[in-house]
Amino acid sequence: MNTVNQTNEKQIHLKREDLMDDPYALYERLREIYPIYKGRMLKQSGWFVTGYKEAALILKEPSFFTRIPLPESTEKYGQLKRVQSKMMLYMNNQDHRKLRLLVNKAFTPKQVEKFRPLIEEVIDSLLDELIVKKEFDVVSEFAFPLTSLVIATILGVPQEDRGRFRVWASALLQSIDFSRSHKTLEDSDRLIGELNDYFTLVIDKKRKNPGHDLISKLIKEQDKITNEELIATSILLVIAGHETTVNLISNTVLAFAKHPAEWELLKSDSSLVAPAIEEVLRYESPTQLTARVAMKDIEIAGQELKSGDQIYLLLGAANRDPDVFENPNKFIISRKATPHLSFGMGGHFCLGSTLARLEAHAALAALIQHVDKLELASHDIKWRKLVGFRSLEQLKIHTVHASK
Ligand code: HEM
Repeated sequence: MNTVNQTNEKQIHLKREDLMDDPYALYERLREIYPIYKGRMLKQSGWFVTGYKEAALILKEPSFFTRIPLPESTEKYGQLKRVQSKMMLYMNNQDHRKLRLLVNKAFTPKQVEKFRPLIEEVIDSLLDELIVKKEFDVVSEFAFPLTSLVIATILGVPQEDRGRFRVWASALLQSIDFSRSHKTLEDSDRLIGELNDYFTLVIDKKRKNPGHDLISKLIKEQDKITNEELIATSILLVIAGHETTVNLISNTVLAFAKHPAEWELLKSDSSLVAPAIEEVLRYESPTQLTARVAMKDIEIAGQELKSGDQIYLLLGAANRDPDVFENPNKFIISRKATPHLSFGMGGHFCLGSTLARLEAHAALAALIQHVDKLELASHDIKWRKLVGFRSLEQLKIHTVHASK
């Protein structure tokens, strides 16, 4: 768990606890030593990138394009490995481009905009029920019901299965986190088998009886997508399509509950909704870490990386690089530009960013209409024990509500 740093002049202990509760102080210490730092954490050694310039360069540089699903050199988690290897997130070059082009058709701004009425309707009906309760959990009672309904509708799976999605998504998120244990991987291997069976059935039904949903559309493109890729894509969208957006919406509420002056500013000027969401993405990025493998020896910022080295891009750290952002540790919704890396950059740039933004904008716009003051019901904020994701276990708030 501790680091013995080999190439940097100073050494630092990378403890998972430091990354879980308040990672930003550790990011700063790392960046001060070097924006690309060689170390070891939780048995994974590699380069930890905290500098914005360095992170952006690596994300955009095709020589660093390669991702591997499971660094563990074991065949033990065969199902997990097989499914992950068919997910575009872990594909590279031609295979990646082919699959991404196909799936992207459903996530263009024009296509996503079609879901606005559904999203707004769901948000309104959820808030109508929640604000009368005076206290509610933003994570389980607001963000999850919204995002799971949206992704279930896009994929065309029964809404009553949404509860299972939540369990699957939450477990699989853990399996791709640094903190995963062998037990987590074993559980995920079993769960991915369940998901595989689930989507095999869904796909069979849709072959016989197609609808207007994404899975039915992809089935029609069967000369361009294999059955395994179709299943893996459905699983990827279930996980990516709701966990991170839940975190964005919950992190937004938390940021405003902690910054009442910014909440007042937003309430007085609703044109700040979109910049406010960009600022939350920068300030409390739902995805904190993504990984790459160097494909050749290369020097970055004076450090020599070798082919095969693992690179861990700390997106939440890059987003607070003082060379790019003034007062990086301050939550300021009126910032002029927020070129954050929260959706990544380059060829793997988040496919669902337009959808995530739409859901978050609509949620925040509705909250400022319905809620006068956001107050935390408890100051004991619990983050899930994850290193790569900024994910609240729950977020109970009191709402002092405005008349609609
Ligand atoms: C706030 C919410 C979200 C955040 C912060 C987020 C973050 C990210 C990041 C950082 C990546 C790039 C990973 C890398 O380059 O290594 C990514 C990729 C991806 N995201 Fe998102 N995401 C969000 C929402 C969504 C949604 C709603 C969907 C789908 C409905 C989605 C689907 C994907 C897919 C499919 C990829 C892989 C793209 C590729 O490999 O070409 N994401 N996301």
